[in-house]
Amino acid sequence: MDAGGFFPEAADSLYREKAWFLMDGMVLLGTDATGMSEKELKYGRGWLLSQLKRTRLPMVCANIWDKQTKKTLVPPYVIVKKGTVNVGVFGLTSDKVDLGPSRDSLTLEDPALAAARVVPEMRKKGATVIVLLSQLGKVESEDLVTGVDGIDVLIAGRNIPVLQKGRMIKNTVACYGGEKGQNMGRTIVTLDAGRRMQTGENDVYVLGPEVPEKPEILQLVKSFNDAFNDKMRKLEKERAAQAQLQTGGEGQGQKQSVDHFVGSEVCQRCHMPEFAQWQTTSHAKAWQTLVDVKKESTPDCVPCHVVGYKQAGGFQTADDATRLGSVQCENCHGMGTQHEAMPAQAQRITEATCRTCHTASSSPVFDFALFEPHILHKRPATLPTLPPNPAKEKMKAGSMH
Ligand code: HEC
Ligand code: HEC
Ligand code: HEC
Ligand code: HEC
Repeated sequence: MDAGGFFPEAADSLYREKAWFLMDGMVLLGTDATGMSEKELKYGRGWLLSQLKRTRLPMVCANIWDKQTKKTLVPPYVIVKKGTVNVGVFGLTSDKVDLGPSRDSLTLEDPALAAARVVPEMRKKGATVIVLLSQLGKVESEDLVTGVDGIDVLIAGRNIPVLQKGRMIKNTVACYGGEKGQNMGRTIVTLDAGRRMQTGENDVYVLGPEVPEKPEILQLVKSFNDAFNDKMRKLEKERAAQAQLQTGGEGQGQKQSVDHFVGSEVCQRCHMPEFAQWQTTSHAKAWQTLVDVKKESTPDCVPCHVVGYKQAGGFQTADDATRLGSVQCENCHGMGTQHEAMPAQAQRITEATCRTCHTASSSPVFDFALFEPHILHKRPATLPTLPPNPAKEKMKAGSMH
């Protein structure tokens, strides 16, 4: 099950493809039910409904109503038969949100009223265990299960922190699974003779590198992301051409602010030894790495593999790669123009400089003491061996999580 709210943040129409790909993926994983929020309405209700029909992903929400048909937009609940037990699963979303393109045709009901209506309805239809897929956030979810009787299991969504151990909220066992599909929760309930919940407990597991990839899924993700990258590249080219038309052919029409990135060509003029050494490091080929795995136009990947992504004078599109591709001088030393003004004041380079890119997801094995000698301009005679980085395979497939 999934608490819902899994559509991408970006409104760009290309991201719609990620949305349906995720839906296909959830069906493939055997998802019995998913909740929903206003995020799933971002590309319009018609689009969502057609994708639900195509994928047959069971999405539930009891408090989003269609004004015209006077029915809920998607089924309020499903009753899933597991062995000899009927599990009733319903969804709720916050009523304080903007429904975007569907705000005129849909309305939101008070979640507590919706819950008080559907919980007894599911019980009447034979469900003995009731699960809530909530998009109410932490506090409101907890208030709701305290106020409405009969909800056995809460799966909390919407900016939820991860808690390794779930908690009992009155008679409800609550699961806090965190964000972005990085974790998986397991809830175990024991039932009495009437198949009603007696006790419940929940644990959340981090889907870290120790949980191996399923090769066929990894392949699926990779081929999807390759195609996505191709389309993004074309889109960027079209946009650049359009911008050029609008500014009468004067480049991208971008004004340079006082401080901006300049690219390592400029630094090279006065710092040849450092430049020559830098060229031997893997930082100098970070752009080629993205090209090799066909992710050079994927916005999730570019920022740590180029200079000053989307900043003044920095990398904007793949056309800037020759000058601003790869991890260069200014990624560690700061904007070149700041240096021109005060050549004697160097920016101090510490572990924090590296950690902006060597994060827990990109570089889980990062250890400053081991990594730093590899990038020093006066390279030590012997270099420490670096541990293998299990995140590389994931990045190659185009996924950061
Ligand atoms: C026009 C020549 C020139 C250019 C271009 C230039 N520098 Fe410098 N840089 C200097 C001089 C001169 C110094 C101070 C003397 C020295 O330590 O070599 C210096 C010092 C530095 C220092 C050391 C500061 C210190 O106090 O230890 C760093 C780091 C540095 N530059 C980085 C860069 C980077 C990065 C670029 C490109 C964005 C760049 N420089 C471009 C001339 C230049
Ligand atoms: C702008 C982002 C960025 C910053 C800042 C950065 N790195 Fe990197 N680093 C990368 C990327 C991207 C790669 C992978 C390059 C490739 O192989 O394509 C990398 C690779 C490396 C490698 C090679 C690792 C291997 O497995 O071969 C070392 C060593 C390294 N970085 C050390 C450092 C240190 C030390 C710092 C801080 C002083 C630092 N980096 C700062 C992005 C960054
Ligand atoms: C948060 C910054 C960051 C982002 C975002 C990022 N990378 Fe990286 N990438 C790195 C760093 C840092 C390394 C080097 C890690 C190490 O060796 O410990 C790296 C290494 C790699 C490598 C391995 C290079 C080698 O040495 O073989 C590949 C491939 C790669 N990245 C591709 C991608 C792709 C594709 C994406 C998008 C899904 C991506 N990266 C997003 C920072 C990032
Ligand atoms: C991964 C981070 C990183 C990158 C990329 C990087 N430097 Fe440095 N740089 C350092 C560190 C750390 C020091 C201080 C320690 C040392 O001397 O190596 C330094 C020192 C310097 C100095 C001071 C003198 C010296 O050699 O110690 C200069 C000049 C310099 N860098 C220029 C450059 C230029 C030019 C580039 C790009 C071609 C560059 N750096 C790329 C990390 C980086």
